[in-house]
Amino acid sequence: MKVTLSVIKADIGGYVGHSHMHPEVLDVASESLDGAKADGLILDFRVLYCGDDLELIMTHTRGEEDPDIHKLAWDTFIRCTEVAKRLKLYGAGQDLLADAFSGNVKGMGPGVAEMEVEERKSEPVIVFMADKTSPGAWNLPLFRIFADPFCTAGLVIDPSMHDGFAFDVLDVKENVKIEMSCPEEMYDLLVFLGASARYMIRTVRRKSDGEVAARASVQRLNIMAGRYVGKDDPVLIVRAQSGFPAVGEILEPFSFPHLVEGWMRGSHHGPFMPVSFKYATPSRFDGPPRVIAAGFQLTNGMLLGPVDMFDDPSFDYARQKALEITEYMRRHGPFEPHRLGLEEMEYTTMPQVMKKLQDRFKKL
Ligand code: F6R
Ligand code: MG
Ligand code: MG
Repeated sequence: MKVTLSVIKADIGGYVGHSHMHPEVLDVASESLDGAKADGLILDFRVLYCGDDLELIMTHTRGEEDPDIHKLAWDTFIRCTEVAKRLKLYGAGQDLLADAFSGNVKGMGPGVAEMEVEERKSEPVIVFMADKTSPGAWNLPLFRIFADPFCTAGLVIDPSMHDGFAFDVLDVKENVKIEMSCPEEMYDLLVFLGASARYMIRTVRRKSDGEVAARASVQRLNIMAGRYVGKDDPVLIVRAQSGFPAVGEILEPFSFPHLVEGWMRGSHHGPFMPVSFKYATPSRFDGPPRVIAAGFQLTNGMLLGPVDMFDDPSFDYARQKALEITEYMRRHGPFEPHRLGLEEMEYTTMPQVMKKLQDRFKKL
């Protein structure tokens, strides 16, 4: 059976400020998707949140980029925005950049990760959702999951993974993409992946048969809108087991809280902290950036789950480390590398300050 898993998300209003989701918004989103399930448009769904981001996880048989599924997500976000406006939630409708839906939510503000798969005998998938960061945050964990034998033992000892994986990498500045193959092109690939503000992994495929293994949302709201409208707060779908990395190999990179872009005003580096659903509530300096992992068994198109994968003491050390890094980075205040470089900041007063002071700069 061919099933499509669509994860579509947007920040349509925060509670309080940019930190949480109001329960009424979640109820209205569930109601909307429940209607679509009753009508037979979708097979199943879950509504989750990460910080101020509303996450719609849906299954159906209509394939990727289906206009009706995208319209369902868009209409759901619009209905939730009405609630957000009525309750005067913060930044109501902030990610809905267009006034009217035109066939596909891509480029309109929401983030999208979708994959159509032939459901295997057993189909475990993990959906990662993040807040206060951008899609470049997935580069390091995706590289480690699918190309680093010190993370994924299966690359070395599982015959069905031993050929390696291919990475589809987007240059979000030039709007071009390239496919690169590991392990052969690993060093070339890392030249790009390390520059994660510009080059982002969109898809990972198993080389032996081309099967899709992972898909990330790569929308960059700030580039799309041409002005600051909030960080992109990405999602990621990864298939697990039987020829794909094991669940534990997929979660393993998140035991290292690497530095990502985002945090306060989308303008700081901070540690990527893996948390349980309950703690997807960035509050300290609007952060630190958070990631949750929802585990599902996809069963005849139904979503069994979610299992809250980071609700596990084996990630306590990563959380503790993230807090130490938080403390260390915060002490830098407005200095780089805590504050992002001038090009990447989403808030800046540089033009005004420069205009005011330009006559006072003297040639040396
Ligand atoms: C970062 C984020 C927040 C806001 C900050 C200021 O992605 O959402 O850190 O940037 O709270 O928000 P405004 O300008 O809306 O007061
Ligand atoms: Mg917000
Ligand atoms: Mg957010």
